[in-house]
Amino acid sequence: MSSRFPFPRYPDGWFQVAYTHELAPGAVMPLRYFGKDLVLFRPEAPEGTPLLPAPHVLDAHCPHLGAHLGHGGKVVDGCIQCPFHAWRFEGEGGCASIPYAQKIPPGARLRSWPVREVNGLIMVWHHGAQRPPSWEVPHVPEFQHPEWTDYELRRWQVRTHNQEMTENAVDLAHLHYLHGTAELPVTLADAREHVLHVVSNIVMKTPFGRTQGTIEVDAHGFGFTLTRFKGIVETLLVNSVTTIDEDSVDVRFAFLVKKLPHKDATSTVGQAFMAEIERQLEQDIPIWENKVYVHPPLLVSGDGPIGMFRRWAGQFYSEPRLVPVAARLAESG
Ligand code: FES
Ligand SMILES: [Fe+2]
Repeated sequence: MSSRFPFPRYPDGWFQVAYTHELAPGAVMPLRYFGKDLVLFRPEAPEGTPLLPAPHVLDAHCPHLGAHLGHGGKVVDGCIQCPFHAWRFEGEGGCASIPYAQKIPPGARLRSWPVREVNGLIMVWHHGAQRPPSWEVPHVPEFQHPEWTDYELRRWQVRTHNQEMTENAVDLAHLHYLHGTAELPVTLADAREHVLHVVSNIVMKTPFGRTQGTIEVDAHGFGFTLTRFKGIVETLLVNSVTTIDEDSVDVRFAFLVKKLPHKDATSTVGQAFMAEIERQLEQDIPIWENKVYVHPPLLVSGDGPIGMFRRWAGQFYSEPRLVPVAARLAESG
């Protein structure tokens, strides 16, 4: 639980832990997310096939004598083998074999986390009460589509909470005063179950002058957000935010640009656009890293649907919500 925020540190939902291209068949990767040590691995492909077997995520520490499976562990016969005494664990967490023992003790098992691999992203389901997934990560039609470029990747580590980053999508006044967009956007926001949909008409400053555009945001919980920009060029930002520990989140941006008739133009416009989005994020970072969470906030007309956002946000905490900071201070004073 974080002292900076009056809600649990680790929200429920799907969160990215790697990209598909980072995990070849037979590869093992140590992870540190949700305040836990985990291991990600992918079984070997059957001989002579181009298949990419589904990856698995397990708790990292071996129940035998505690070695970390992500540091020296290897994939053998579809299992992960511990580097210390070679016990083998299946993707579902059961112990498949102990090379020097006849009997496998019942406690020889690791927690297996739900995993999906979609849109070139490897996602893990985190739920505070360990319930199974209640929704799925959507397929992104632009990914690997011939009319769109491949992903261009960026990554940051930020000292904040997922909820604070997602709130940015509905905080309209900051777009002008922090990011310098020419006019305040018109916004429609609507929340259905775990998806928050926000549409803004906006005038953006680009190296090509001011351009009128639309920004359409679909936040699937706090871990996976699709932002579609339509203006002089169509761009899609696949954005993931995964909680690392009590302090920080791991932020990944994957940009896709709809190809223009000329390759050079696609790359020039795409690069300029990405630079603008990076510039905006780097303006947000010092705000997020140093702000406090004010609840209830002092909202005025023109602030955007922040109240609605916060009601929607409540569904991603299976642990009980805490008393807001201001109320706690009042009680203790
Ligand atoms: S610690 Fe893993 S097999 Fe002994
Ligand atoms: Fe922002």
